[in-house]
Amino acid sequence: MKKLLFSLWLLSTTLGLRAEDGHQLWLRPHQAAPVTVVVAAKNSTLLAMAKQELERNWQGAAGATVTLTLKKDNAIKHDGFRLGPTSVRATTEAGLLYGVFELLRRQQTGQPVADKVFNPSYEYRLLNHWDNPDGSVERGYAGHSIFWRKDSSFVVTAKDKALWQEYARANASVGLNGAVINNVNASPLILSAEYLGRTKAIADVLRPYGVKTFLAVKFSSPVLLGGLKTADPLDPAVKKWWQAKAKEIYQQIPDFGGFLVKASSEGQPGPQDYGRTHADGANMLADAVKPYGGLVMWRAFVYSPNDKDRAKQAYNEFVPLDGKFRDNIIVQVKNGPVDFQPREPFSPLFGALKKTSVMPEFQITQEYLGHSIDLAFLSTMWEECLGSDTYQAGPSSTVARVTDGSVYPQKHTAMAGVANTGLDRNWTGQDFGQANWYAFGRLAWNNQLKSAQIADEWLKQTFTGATSSTASASDWNTNFLAPVTQLMLASREAIVNYSMPLGLHHIMSATHDHYGPGPWWAPPKMRADWTPPYYHQADAQGVGFDRTTGGSNAVSQYHEPLAGQFNNPATCPDEYLLWFHHLPWDFKMKSGRTLWDELALHYDHGVQQVRQFQQVWDKAQPYVDAERFAAVQNKLRAQSGNAVLWKDACLLYFQQFSHLPIPAIVEPPM
Ligand code: GCU
Repeated sequence: MKKLLFSLWLLSTTLGLRAEDGHQLWLRPHQAAPVTVVVAAKNSTLLAMAKQELERNWQGAAGATVTLTLKKDNAIKHDGFRLGPTSVRATTEAGLLYGVFELLRRQQTGQPVADKVFNPSYEYRLLNHWDNPDGSVERGYAGHSIFWRKDSSFVVTAKDKALWQEYARANASVGLNGAVINNVNASPLILSAEYLGRTKAIADVLRPYGVKTFLAVKFSSPVLLGGLKTADPLDPAVKKWWQAKAKEIYQQIPDFGGFLVKASSEGQPGPQDYGRTHADGANMLADAVKPYGGLVMWRAFVYSPNDKDRAKQAYNEFVPLDGKFRDNIIVQVKNGPVDFQPREPFSPLFGALKKTSVMPEFQITQEYLGHSIDLAFLSTMWEECLGSDTYQAGPSSTVARVTDGSVYPQKHTAMAGVANTGLDRNWTGQDFGQANWYAFGRLAWNNQLKSAQIADEWLKQTFTGATSSTASASDWNTNFLAPVTQLMLASREAIVNYSMPLGLHHIMSATHDHYGPGPWWAPPKMRADWTPPYYHQADAQGVGFDRTTGGSNAVSQYHEPLAGQFNNPATCPDEYLLWFHHLPWDFKMKSGRTLWDELALHYDHGVQQVRQFQQVWDKAQPYVDAERFAAVQNKLRAQSGNAVLWKDACLLYFQQFSHLPIPAIVEPPM
């Protein structure tokens, strides 16, 4: 018996079948009821997948007949679908697959299925993998790359394929339809024949799930890989090189998605090296992929060491170029103007570019939010950004609406998330990191969804299969679902509280890979904009970055009434106060407390919140399998220590400027 079990285990590991080892993301196997699936269309691999999903996971009436129909329907946009209790209609095959997953999700999470059309908010819903050709992952905390191997042998194994297939299926289940499979700090190697060969193999596995493959490219590839003397975008030889490269790629991958480019940014080569603009560079690449229907996503993550205020540069560089980009270019903008901090106001580029397609970029991997240790449900952060009103075309010009084509006639719409996947058995390091992958997909499909619904759906799909035999469904709802949903919804704010409250930002440790506190870090000769004191500006007078009209004037990049509101400390929301203002330690807050006391209480509150999360999780034990229970419990314990470290380190550090005592703790916490 032991031998048999061992052989089965060996077989599953050799094939890389994570699906059998208890780490199946939100796609857990279900006792399916019998169902007949009629596909009213020419059969294809993708439709076979859709049929198989239904047959394996059907939770509706036993013996039902479900029809999948490809049919024109004016209410259906892109790869949207029309859903009925036993029917899915769509105009694309991918639409049918998404409809099937929606039907199954509704069955599993107890949501009604009425006749309704579901359309995606964005045409392209993409993961950006910061995976390097040597298998390492930049800002990755879940092990090595799922795509690339260190030994750089280009053999594609059955294990690789099984893994990519599981990955593609997970993406499709939440409507993600594209993946940039290498790092934005791109190696030129990625465009070499060997890597393109492996890229083709990946694309072949992702395709049946409707997931398109994209590559991040290095702007100087014509020099580094092609041996040219220049990468000047206006040079005819450079143009020709890219055209030939595009042709080579499309010959192997006819539905290749296109390029993602980080250029003239953080030392990466770019058009500015040749006195050209971002538009010159992007247009040249866009022309190369245009004949094949390819897209160029050009990142707006730019700042320079000479800048007095890093937060302003992207707007300054890109707004003058509005209208100058080809129509197969999307400018990809991080949610905030600095860099994926626990909280930032939205980037002022949203809504300001009116004649250019613009897409939001979020970070799913937790670079600044505790890596894969801290429990941070990031959906609330993204919901906050998407729901922010830019006022650029009057009220209700939310970030969601100015990027999804509702406000401006964008030729293309998209949303990207920097992935948190790796070879760890649970894919994301922290089990709750899976919820961020899930949430990103759900929000990219529907940018109006609420985080509470997303958390509810994810928990129901991810943990139901693991309830103990003695627990009833209503027990589960009361003792697990409700408190753990609340924990998830509060988790990001807790991190803001114990790390960077009231608009503080970029005060993390630089020496520990952006993990833990480091407001003091400023070695001599270091670029100022890489050191925390540049951002918090603490001194005897007070703390915070003055971005008002009297300071860097970053407020002016926001449309009224925001500019005025942010400019005045009395009307600036507390969450952004020290983002926009340098204020005295005894500044009177809306709460009536001094700034110093308020700061101290936020730090302490964050610590209390994590301790409360620990208690909630301890009580979840009867409802979770032993492995995941212990893993999350251990991580919460570590997080609790981290929170104390953040609080103590930051308060002690700031206290040398404020010279004020730590206030008595408010009970119950704020
Ligand atoms: C941050 C991050 C880098 C990354 C960069 C980017 O600065 O620390 O690792 O390359 O963002 O988004 O390009």
